[in-house]
Amino acid sequence: MPIYGTRPEAIKMAPIVIALQEAPDFECVVAVTGQHREMLDQVNELFGIVPDHDLNILQQGQTLSAIMTRTIDGLDKLFAESKPDAVIVQGDTTTSTAAAIAAFYHGIPVVHAEAGLRSGNLLSPFPEEANRKITSQIASLHLAPTSTSKANLLAEGVTEADVVITGNTVIDALLTTVNKHIPFTDPQLEELAASGRKVLLVTTHRRENQGDAMRGMGRALARIADAEPELTIVLPAHRNPVVREAVLPAIEGKGNVIVTEPLSYGEFTRMLSVSHVVLTDSGGVQEEAPSLGKPVLVMRENTERPEAVHAGTVALIGTDEERIFKEVDRLLHDQDHFDAMANAVNPYGDGLAAERTVAAVRELLGVGSRIGEFVSS
Ligand code: UD1
Ligand code: UDP
Repeated sequence: MPIYGTRPEAIKMAPIVIALQEAPDFECVVAVTGQHREMLDQVNELFGIVPDHDLNILQQGQTLSAIMTRTIDGLDKLFAESKPDAVIVQGDTTTSTAAAIAAFYHGIPVVHAEAGLRSGNLLSPFPEEANRKITSQIASLHLAPTSTSKANLLAEGVTEADVVITGNTVIDALLTTVNKHIPFTDPQLEELAASGRKVLLVTTHRRENQGDAMRGMGRALARIADAEPELTIVLPAHRNPVVREAVLPAIEGKGNVIVTEPLSYGEFTRMLSVSHVVLTDSGGVQEEAPSLGKPVLVMRENTERPEAVHAGTVALIGTDEERIFKEVDRLLHDQDHFDAMANAVNPYGDGLAAERTVAAVRELLGVGSRIGEFVSS
């Protein structure tokens, strides 16, 4: 039973769900919490996944405790009716950790996809660093995307035999989606893609950036838009009203800024591939953009994804308004700097992570064995 609730989990779980559905020796029962609604449904629709169970927990302005308790309560009832042989949770959202706890309480083995990411700071990202550490304490099988994440798990005392390096399923999802040339619903984006204008693609949502930091991002974007009339800034806005209220006022009405609703995953990956530079605080976008050779400026102080920083395609720039302005300016005007960052690298996966996941679950359940691990390029 794969269990997930937010957009990034849905994207990263989709290849696993599809691989399980195609495997004749599994019955795959999909449960979603609905921690996200529109942003979750959009992904399931794209991948043709119809959940078997939907806890529908979303409340506007939901608290972390509400996500946790409503998920555990819903799964308690579900597990009482239908007890899977194993559950799979993904990453570090509160859905993911709550589902792991609920399964653990019911004696159901927990498989943790994207295990072992660590920023080293319990408060950043908040609450994700704590969420993933909690899940690591109770998981039976840890699917580490890279050798770095495996090393983090071993350093915390996880048994080596319980860890498999699979690569990240986000690369499976990306590779099956990005070349489909999915049309943009918004005609402005279709025109932009055809125009050849330089695009700065921006996303933000992190809880610890909400408030002052996000208002500063809005001001930095306004300054970039004014200083670079040949550039178009595209900002697919997260559904969270707190994010929109902080970032959007400074850029509203600017002729070279396009603010959209969240793009479907097909549209977003196409926009990534036509972008010149990516500015983000997202985890998933940090993993996808390097494999498309796009320089990524990450508006955070730290990252649990150091591989692309080491490869030189991702730079951590924090959230200071002046710094954001200067780093974008440098990538736009210093060609050597741009070329040094615009290398296609694949530290996060090779497109076979879902296959390795299914094989590792077979081994956990005593009906097969794992296959060769992912080795980073
Ligand atoms: C959640 C995850 C975060 C992940 C992010 C991906 C937690 C604690 N946080 O943060 O780890 O990086 O998702 O985007 O698990 N909303 C809607 N419709 C939607 C989605 C969100 O209306 O489809 C609004 C609601 O008002 C909601 C708010 O956005 O209260 C915040 O959503 P929530 O899931 O609580 O937090 P995120 O910041 O999205
Ligand atoms: N994404 C999308 N549409 C958008 C913005 C992002 O499909 O308008 C995808 C993106 O490709 C990545 C994922 O959403 O795979 C990242 O989600 P998010 O930034 O919300 O969460 P995080 O990865 O930070 O947890």
